[in-house]
Parts: sequence; structure tokens; C-alpha cells
Amino acid sequence: MFKIVSGIIEGISVIWDVTLDLFFGKNEFEYLFKQIKLQNLDGHMPILRKTVEGSNYKAYLFTIPIGLSIEDFKDNKDTISQYLHKKECDVSIELVNNQALITIKEGDIKVSCDYEDYEFKDNNKIPIGIDKMTNKIAYWKYLSQSDCHLIIGGATGSGKSTALTEVVSYIVEYIPNIKIYIQDTKTVDLPMFENVDCVEVYNGGKDHFDETISNVVDEMKERYKWLKEKKCRNLNEYKGKDKPPHIFYIVEELNNFNSKHKEDVEFYKNLQLILSQGRAAGITCIVTAQNPYCDVLPGYIKSNFLTKLCLKTTTGEASKVLCGNFDLLIDEKIMDGNGHGYLINSDGTNEIQGFNIQEETIIQIANKHRKDKDS
Ligand SMILES: Nc1ncnc2c1ncn2[C@@H]1O[C@H](COP(=O)(O)OP(=O)(O)OP(=O)(O)O)[C@@H](O)[C@H]1O
Ligand SMILES: [Mg+2]
Repeated sequence: MFKIVSGIIEGISVIWDVTLDLFFGKNEFEYLFKQIKLQNLDGHMPILRKTVEGSNYKAYLFTIPIGLSIEDFKDNKDTISQYLHKKECDVSIELVNNQALITIKEGDIKVSCDYEDYEFKDNNKIPIGIDKMTNKIAYWKYLSQSDCHLIIGGATGSGKSTALTEVVSYIVEYIPNIKIYIQDTKTVDLPMFENVDCVEVYNGGKDHFDETISNVVDEMKERYKWLKEKKCRNLNEYKGKDKPPHIFYIVEELNNFNSKHKEDVEFYKNLQLILSQGRAAGITCIVTAQNPYCDVLPGYIKSNFLTKLCLKTTTGEASKVLCGNFDLLIDEKIMDGNGHGYLINSDGTNEIQGFNIQEETIIQIANKHRKDKDS
């Protein structure tokens, strides 16, 4: 969540810089810096250059005197947090333009995270939740080269299925000309979509998983031949009326597969093909994974999920596998559960609250798009 603040700070004008210089020659932090001896051999202390306030954060930017570094700030994070009357987890310290940026989270403003309260229309991006820093909708730009394929990971009860059903409901409701393949290994999360018109295949459990994924790969290969004939490099750029539907290949619970098990080796080979070559052929993959570990989500698979919704985990390994940080997602003080997590994509890492969607809404959307609706 603190990434956006650094972006805002970087963009603030020089005029403000000069104005603040005049007002903040000596700053309110002087007492603190003296206490923690944050000064160089000449006695120079950091000088406050800017303060920025948002709806739920406040940020301070300091010069770093010669001889000190950002590490000197970080080493004193506990005392700085106490001075600001904040918990350490609500304070971030980072280096921005060779200056020290201290950001504090203010009391969260409650905004609705109910899917039903929003009106959506975009078919180029899929809403995932509310960005806790900006209170704006956080999206998955599934067509973008730098964001394609989504993994939703977290412990049991963290909100994976809720996030997945919200995403699938949105796809069914708002994205035209699509085809969905579902491998619902737990059989409880997506059966309501079984008879939806754009759902090509719905498999419960591990039924036909090999056949289904190899069909998707075959279709991808056919599409590459077709694109070559059309002299087009990417299906998204094709404007003809005969454009084939965008495909979503969905696996609910990747943990029911294991890259080290003989019977799943072919599945992982095909999954990697879809992840690495699917985008240009108009094929997007979505998976959920409960507390994933390396054998379930090996590096060659993980690296191709360019959008990651990282929910609360109960193991450090899962946290590390998902977001690269062993401690973050297991930290009870930081992670609220219930759809709270970090969305990692080409925009960086942003703290979000995932949309909650009611069962009735899902059923309503599924019924509206039933195959046999008119018969
Ligand atoms: N975005 C959300 N907003 C509010 N509550 C949520 C949200 N997501 C999940 N919850 C709450 O958490 C409960 C568990 O969520 P969910 O079934 O999605 O978890 P899960 O990660 O799929 O668990 P499992 O791995 O056991 O299937 C939900 O019944 C709901 O009460
Ligand atoms: Mg679930």
C-alpha cells in the first residue's frame, strides 16, 4: 500500500518544495532525531522537505544528511513509530529520490467492498477489490501483456473462492465473446456456472483434467496457425468479425495437483504452455491455490502469473511462494483475512480488500446466462 505514496511524492512540484523549505527549516522531528542520534558527525539532522496527506495516510519526506543512509532510519523504525503514536506495521520507511520517505497509515476509512454496491461496465479489466490506500477499485488487466494470468492464493477461509466467484461472475456478466473451461477440483465453488452459455467445459473433481487442458493447448496451437494465416501476431489486435472467443481456463484449487507426481506431469507441462504462450492466442488462466508450496507452484509456473492476489496464509513457505516475503502474509497484525490481501501486478504491490459477492447475485448472473434460457 505504501508504493502509491512514493509515486505521489515523486510527482509533487518543485514549487511546493521551496515553500515547505521556508516553513520547515527547523522541523517537528528535531527532538526525535536528537534522541535517536540520527545526525551525522557535523551534527546535521534530516530536514523535512514535504508532507502529504491522503484520505488514510500521511507521508513525510526528509533529506538524508551526508554520512547517514536510509538504513539509519529503518534501524530506528520502532522509536519513530512510537513517536508518531503508530504501530510499527502501520509505518513504512523507504528511499525515494535519495530521500527518506516515512508513510503512516491513518485510521482506515470504511468503504463498501460489496460487489452489489458498484456499477461496472469495463470489459478490458476485471475488478478485484478496493485499494486500501486510494479507496479506488483495483482491477486485473487480464488483456495486458504485463498482467496476464491470475493466481489467487491464501489459507483456508482467506477468501479465495469468494474472489474467484466474483471474478467469474464478472466475466460471465460483462465480457462478450468468451469461452470458459472450468476444472472445479473441490466441486463446491463453481457448479452454479456449469450451465452458463459461455462455459464450454465444467469438470468437477479431477475428472477429465488431462483431456481438458490438452484440448485448450490444441486450441491454442490451432489459433497460432490461424493468426499466421491472418498475418496477425496477437488475437487481441484482430478486428475481424470472425475473431474467435477469448478463453478463460480456470483451475479451482491447484493444490490438488503436484508437479512431482507422475500422473500430473503432463498437466503441468500443458499449464506452462498455456501460461507462456496463451496470451497472444487469447487464452487467460486463473487458478486458486491453498497455502501453495513449491511442488504445487514451482517457479516455472509461478513466474508466469503476472497478477497475484495474495491473501492471508498460515505458513511462511506459502507467503514466500506467493509474494516473496516469508513473514508478510502470515502476520496476524497485518492480515485481516476475509478477502484482505495484496494485489501484485505491473502497478506494484497494493493492499486491497477483495469484493464480497452474495450467493444470490452469483445465481442471478448464472441464471441470466443459462444455455437453455430461451428454450
Ligand atoms: N471479500 C470478502 N469480504 C468479506 N468476507 C469475506 C470475503 N472473502 C471471504 N470472506 C469471508 O470468509 C469466508 C471464507 O471465504 P472463502 O470460502 O472464499 O475462503 P477460501 O479461501 O476459499 O477457503 P477454502 O480454502 O477453505 O476453500 C466467507 O464465507 C466469508 O464469510
Ligand atoms: Mg474455497
